[in-house]
Amino acid sequence: MFSRIARPAAHGLVRGLSTSSQASARVAVLGASGGIGQPLSLLLKNSPLISNLALYDIAHTPGVAADLSHIETRAKVTGYMGPDQLPESLKGAEVVVIPAGVPRKPGMTRDDLFNTNASIVATLSDACAKHCPEAMICIISNPVNSTIPITSEVFKKHGVYNPNHIFGVTTLDIVRANTFVAELKGLDPARVNVPVIGGHAGKTIIPLISQCTPKVEFPQNQLEVLIGRIQEAGTEVVKAKAGAGSATLSMAYAGARFVFSLLDAMNGKEGVIECSFVRSEETECPYFSTPLLLGKNGIEKNLGLGKITSFEEKLVADAMSELKGSIKKGEEFIKSHK
Ligand SMILES: NC(=O)c1ccc[n+]([C@@H]2O[C@H](COP(=O)([O-])OP(=O)(O)OC[C@H]3O[C@@H](n4cnc5c(N)ncnc54)[C@H](O)[C@@H]3O)[C@@H](O)[C@H]2O)c1
Repeated sequence: MFSRIARPAAHGLVRGLSTSSQASARVAVLGASGGIGQPLSLLLKNSPLISNLALYDIAHTPGVAADLSHIETRAKVTGYMGPDQLPESLKGAEVVVIPAGVPRKPGMTRDDLFNTNASIVATLSDACAKHCPEAMICIISNPVNSTIPITSEVFKKHGVYNPNHIFGVTTLDIVRANTFVAELKGLDPARVNVPVIGGHAGKTIIPLISQCTPKVEFPQNQLEVLIGRIQEAGTEVVKAKAGAGSATLSMAYAGARFVFSLLDAMNGKEGVIECSFVRSEETECPYFSTPLLLGKNGIEKNLGLGKITSFEEKLVADAMSELKGSIKKGEEFIKSHK
């Protein structure tokens, strides 16, 4: 039996960047020149799991690719710029990571990004559905609660939809929860694992502190402050950056952690578990994040919510209406754009 809260064993970041295993994955990053795209591509370039790294953006990719290509690791880096080169960037891709789109400025919610990012994600998903329909698609672009339904609808339109291959990257919420719990309890953050379920915006971010390993306990008032901080941690960074964007470096780390877990699982490693916002039947919401057992074909098994406290049940109930609204908004965006 797999523990549903096991921490990914060797994602190659916490334990150093080189692992003994080598593989030959072809990975594409769409939005590779951005605040997230560049450090994410750097971390991916360092991985022995990747043989080809294709970097696509509407600007600056020749420079980013030339720069990264001088690093003494085996991944061959190629740069592609502008829509004409998008199909070529996706050729043979097994994993596509998408951090393309505008980030928040102070005072904005993730949903305020919808108007710009919905079209960007729809265009890029359309290209993926045409040129690498079998690839694992990892969406970082916000609002994730809407961009995953958008990607899913685009793949459905092309008749190539596989819900086990489409992931909303919520790993940063887990990374933050692990860090904040470790700080409060004086633990090594690398050994803490807090599953975070629901979605990726405000109160839809639901950390399951009751399922944390190692087991931790907080008085109710401290628990509520901790959960509030995890839910608003993105805004903490947006405010601190004062107009210069949102989380980029910690997001690059989180994105790389998710991709390495996925590649490990695709290479046959057993027991790899990550939370991600995916098509789901675990609640009344058609998309929901829960711990997932990953395998050669993406999602092997949804491990569900597990045993949660009555307080956590209330957090789930409180998130439903916002989550369903964001999902519907994404689905309708595609349905109304023939
Ligand atoms: N999932 C998460 O936890 C999480 C965390 C932080 C940020 N984000 C989101 O990630 C996205 C990117 O953030 P960032 O800080 O890197 O932004 P950024 O503005 O620094 O970079 C975005 C990049 O996307 C590129 N781009 C724009 N339109 C494109 C298109 N049509 N095709 C390809 N590339 C295109 C831009 O040229 C730019 O290089 C934002 O939507 C942000 O909200 C998600």
